[in-house]
Amino acid sequence: MGWYDRYVVPRLVTCACGTKPIVRQRQKVVPQARGRILEIGLGAGHNLPHYDPGQVDHVVGIDPCEESWRLATPRVRAVPFDVEFKAGSAEDIPADDASFDTVLLTFSLCTIPDPEAAVREARRVLRPSGKLVFCEHGQAPDDSVARWQRRINPLWNKLFGGCNLNRDIKGIIGGNGFSLGDVQQMYLPGTPRIAGFNIWGVADPQ
Ligand SMILES: C[S@@+](CC[C@H](N)C(=O)[O-])C[C@H]1O[C@@H](n2cnc3c(N)ncnc32)[C@H](O)[C@@H]1O
Repeated sequence: MGWYDRYVVPRLVTCACGTKPIVRQRQKVVPQARGRILEIGLGAGHNLPHYDPGQVDHVVGIDPCEESWRLATPRVRAVPFDVEFKAGSAEDIPADDASFDTVLLTFSLCTIPDPEAAVREARRVLRPSGKLVFCEHGQAPDDSVARWQRRINPLWNKLFGGCNLNRDIKGIIGGNGFSLGDVQQMYLPGTPRIAGFNIWGVADPQ
C-alpha cells in the first residue's frame, strides 16, 4: 500500500464521515445496536458517540486499516463501554458463529472488496435473534444520477481508497441471508447526489 492510501485516504475519509448530514444518519441507526456488537469497518470510530451506552455490553470493531484505529483512539477513550479492535477483513471475520447480538455496518459496504461475502459473514456471526443495523450509500434510483455514478466511479475509487458509488445495497443485503424490513432511503441534503443516496434500516437473519 502506498503513502497516499496509508495516510491520506484515512484522513480524507474521516473528514467526509464527520459531515452533518452523515452524523444525522448515524443518529438514526446506531442507537438501535445492542448487546454484544460487531462494527464492521470501524474506521475512525465516528459511530461510537451515537451508541446508547445503556444497551451496549461490548463493541468489537473490525477494520483492515490499522491507521484508522489510531484515528479512532480519542473516540474510544470517550465512551463508557469497552471497544476492542480487531485488524481483519469483513470477508473473513475472526469470530465464532452466532456470537453477536448486533452487526453494525455504516458506509463500509461501498469499500469492502467483496461486500456479498461480508454480508454472509455478518449472517454467520449473528445470533438467530440478532439484527443487522445498517446505513450505506449506493446506487441511485434515478437514471441520470446512476449514469454519472458509473462514469465517475473509476476515478472516485482510486481517490477514496476503493470506495464505490454505485453498489446495489438492498440486493447485497437481501441476497445474502437477510430479510429487509422497513428500509428507508433518500438523497442526503447538502451532499452531491452521486455520493449522497443513502439506504438504511434493520435486517433480520433469514
Ligand atoms: C468510508 S469508511 C467508513 C468507516 C465507518 N464505518 C464510518 O461509518 O465512519 C470505510 C471503512 O471500511 C474499511 N474497510 C475496507 N475494506 C474492509 C474490509 N475488507 N473489511 C472491513 N472493513 C474494511 C476501511 O478501512 C474504512 O475504515
